[in-house]
Order: sequence, then C-alpha cells, then structure tokens
Amino acid sequence: MDVYEHPFWEEKSEKCLQCGSCTIVCPTCYCYDVRDEVSITLESGERIRVWDSCLLPDFTKIASGERFRKSKLDRYRHRFYRKGLYIPLRYNFIACVGCGRCIKACIPKIANPAEAINTILERKSESKGKLIYKLPEGIEAKASFVPEPAVIKRIETLTESEKLFEIEMMARDKFDFQPGQFVEVSIFGVGEAPISISSPPSENNRFELVVRKVGSLTGKLHSMREGDKIGIRGPLGKGFNTKEMEGKDLLFVAGGIGIVPLRSLIKYILSENNRSKFGKIFILYGSRTPKDVLFMDEIREWEKIRDVEIKLSVDTCPEGMSWDGCVGVVTTLFPKIEIKDPKNTVAVVVGPPVMYKFVIRCLKDIGIRDEDISVSLERRMKCGIGKCGHCQISGVYVCKEGPVFRYSEIKDLPEAFS
Ligand SMILES: Cc1cc2nc3c(=O)[nH]c(=O)nc-3n(C[C@H](O)[C@H](O)[C@H](O)COP(=O)(O)OP(=O)(O)OC[C@H]3O[C@@H](n4cnc5c(N)ncnc54)[C@H](O)[C@@H]3O)c2cc1C
Ligand code: SF4
Ligand code: SF4
Ligand code: FES
Repeated sequence: MDVYEHPFWEEKSEKCLQCGSCTIVCPTCYCYDVRDEVSITLESGERIRVWDSCLLPDFTKIASGERFRKSKLDRYRHRFYRKGLYIPLRYNFIACVGCGRCIKACIPKIANPAEAINTILERKSESKGKLIYKLPEGIEAKASFVPEPAVIKRIETLTESEKLFEIEMMARDKFDFQPGQFVEVSIFGVGEAPISISSPPSENNRFELVVRKVGSLTGKLHSMREGDKIGIRGPLGKGFNTKEMEGKDLLFVAGGIGIVPLRSLIKYILSENNRSKFGKIFILYGSRTPKDVLFMDEIREWEKIRDVEIKLSVDTCPEGMSWDGCVGVVTTLFPKIEIKDPKNTVAVVVGPPVMYKFVIRCLKDIGIRDEDISVSLERRMKCGIGKCGHCQISGVYVCKEGPVFRYSEIKDLPEAFS
C-alpha cells in the first residue's frame, strides 16, 4: 500500500503502448463494455457484453470529456492495484493465477505482475507516497441486467440542451427510491445511460429525469415523444442519508446539472411533511450562463419557504442576456451567506468533477467537518451494479457504494477528486 508513488510505475508505464493486450488475454480480468447490436432489418437484436480494458484511455471518460485516470502511469498502476489490492480486499483472493499470458502478450515486456511486485519490494525505500484505502459501506444492488418496461408520460423542454421526462413504470404500482439514486435508461438498439432521479420519492410509480443531450442515447431520448416506451433498470446506487440530516442546517452546493439529483433531495426536504425536521437551508447554485439555469420557477417558489436562502451565479453573462445574480464561479457565493453553526451543518455538493476541490476548500474554511460533507460523484458507468469495472475510483464502485459518498470516506483515494 505504501508504494503508490514508487518510481517503478513511471519507469515502466512510459513504455506502455496502451494496447490493452495484458487485460484481454488475462483469465482473471473481467471488465467489460455493453453494446447493442441490431439486425440489418432493425427488427431484432441483442445487448451484448464485450471485453474492455482499464489500460485504454477512454475507459473512464465521461460526457464532459473528463478522464479519471488521466496518464499512462495512472492506468498502468491501476491494473496492478486491482489485481493485488482492490480485489483481494473485496473477495479475499489475488486476481492473478500466474499463467504468464500477459507476459507473452505485452510487446514492451512490462506487464509481468511478479516482476512488478518483486522489483518494488527490492526497491521499497524509493517509495514516496501511501495509498490509504478502506472500502466504504456498500449496498446490495437489487436490480438485474434486465430493463423493465416504462413509458414517457410527459416531456418538458427546460433549456436548449436539457429536457425533463416524466416516466411511468408499467409493471409496478410504486417506484421506491432515495433522493440521490439513479436509474439506467435503456433504449433498445442504442444502449443504456445512467441518469439521476430528479423528483422526490412519491407514493406512485412515476418519477422525473432531466437529461442533457450529449451523445447517442441522450440524443435519441431527446427525439422521443410522450407515449414512447423505454426500459428502466433501478433504482441503483446509494442515495443521500436524509435521517442524518434531520435537526441540522443544510448547505447545498450545485454546479450545472448537479442541481438535477439535488432537486430530488431539496424537494423532499421542503415538502410539507418534512420541512420541520430540518434547520435552515442554504442553496448555492452556479450555471454557465443565464440560459443554462434550470428550474428557475421552482427556485423562486423555494425562496418563499421559511428559512430558505438561495444564491445563484453564472460563470458569464453574454451580451443580450440579462442577469441580476452574481457573475463568477459558484465559490464566489460563499461570502454571501452566513453559516452560524458549522458544527451543526451538513453540506451536500453535486457538480462537475472540477468543482469539488474548490467547493470543499470553502466548506473547510467555514468550519464544516469532513464527515458532514456529502458528495455525489459522476463516473463512466455501464452495468450500474458493480460488475463491469468502469466506474471504479481506486477500487470503489461508484455505481454501488455511491454515487453519494461521505467526503471523509473517500477523500484519501487519489482518484476521487481530480
Ligand atoms: C450516476 C450518474 C448520474 C447521471 N445523471 C445524469 C442526469 O441526471 N442527467 C444527465 O443528463 N446526465 C446524467 N449523467 C451523465 C449521463 O449518464 C451521460 O451523459 C450519458 O451516459 C451519455 O450517454 P450517451 O449515449 O448520450 O453518450 P455517448 O454517445 O455514449 O457518449 C458521449 C459522451 O458521454 C460519455 N459517456 C458515455 N457513456 C457514459 C456513461 N455510461 N457514463 C458516463 N459518461 C458516459 C462518453 O465518454 C462520451 O464522452 C449521469 C451519470 C452518472 C454516472
Ligand atoms: S499472469 Fe496474472 S495478470 Fe498475467 S494474464 Fe495471467 S492471471 Fe492475468
Ligand atoms: S500489454 Fe503491455 S503495452 Fe499493452 S497495455 Fe498492457 S502493459 Fe501496456
Ligand atoms: S458501472 Fe459497472 S461496476 Fe460500476
């Protein structure tokens, strides 16, 4: 564990061709991608698993372009840590049977796990950094790989790139979920995408999704109409712990479409039945430009509720648009609020990957403790239930043990915050 920053990783990974052969030939590597293959008549098809490799640069790439293992070194080292630490911790065995296939397949001859471990042990004194690693508490995913039928009941255009979809589960009377959980939206022939639930829990079988159009599945969803059928798997992942928030002041910080999962939590907390269980509520919400602000009408309604203070910012206000809020990134809103009792305040942060470290610095400055900060993290996801390996941050499955984490649980994982 204390060899995370060992120079060995750099020396070897420099030669890596990023071909992925070491993982493809390995009998114990099992990470995969999911694709839809459709017949030439478009009348039938199947959803298939295809091998994928954590050595390939796009393995962790998300819609905003962020890659969570940016360098060859990160990806090269991850393979050894997965085999030698993350899997042993989780399942109690080493994920290498010593078959030697990777040694043969690797052209620059750098894939040999035995060589890596022996060299590092011999040169242990050269190590600089330590990986502090503990598995967060997980939940058992109840969902299967099979999507359930659902129908789009209502579509609302929110901005140029975001639409709201009200979904009804056709084979269920009630759809139970926690704010912060997500579903895998499935369109046959196109694929699946993880999307957060944006409405609060209800007594019926309906819920809302807000989807930004960025690629094939989200593009197809944007072209669909009310009454069209889709598939849903879920609810998936671990949501916000609302019990722990009771009796506390709450500070919500949202960036961009981070407001989408937060809306589920905010509406739950502000509902008539629940409002009295929580203290004062602060909402800081930053968007790119005024036309990207989501749920403005609802925000105006939330502001009218007792002890709710909301501050909005936009990164820029282009000519021709009007804006009476703050111009600047979301952290410029912090001086505008006064948190009187930081030790009795829970903060919840959801936004683009780049936002977290700056917001967390502000939270620490005002005295909010690490264990009182919750974050919801976006990662590339395929299976959504801890099988395909795509969403891992240093061995933690974001789809299963997250996407909501207590900051104190994951702050020491080097891959958690870029
Ligand atoms: C837990 C979670 C909750 C999310 N909630 C929302 C939400 O509420 N609203 C919303 O608009 N978006 C949300 N996203 C992002 C959304 O899943 C991606 O934008 C979507 O998967 C892109 O699919 P696509 O087929 O349209 O894009 P593609 O055509 O597949 O690719 C476009 C880009 O998206 C990236 N991408 C592809 N597949 C995934 C994937 N499975 N996960 C992440 N990135 C991917 C690709 O690397 C590429 O850069 C969420 C993601 C996660 C992990
Ligand atoms: S030696 Fe280990 S890591 Fe290499 S292919 Fe065989 S099982 Fe996989
Ligand atoms: S086989 Fe060798 S060169 Fe190819 S990705 Fe694996 S370590 Fe890199
Ligand atoms: S998305 Fe497959 S393991 Fe998390």
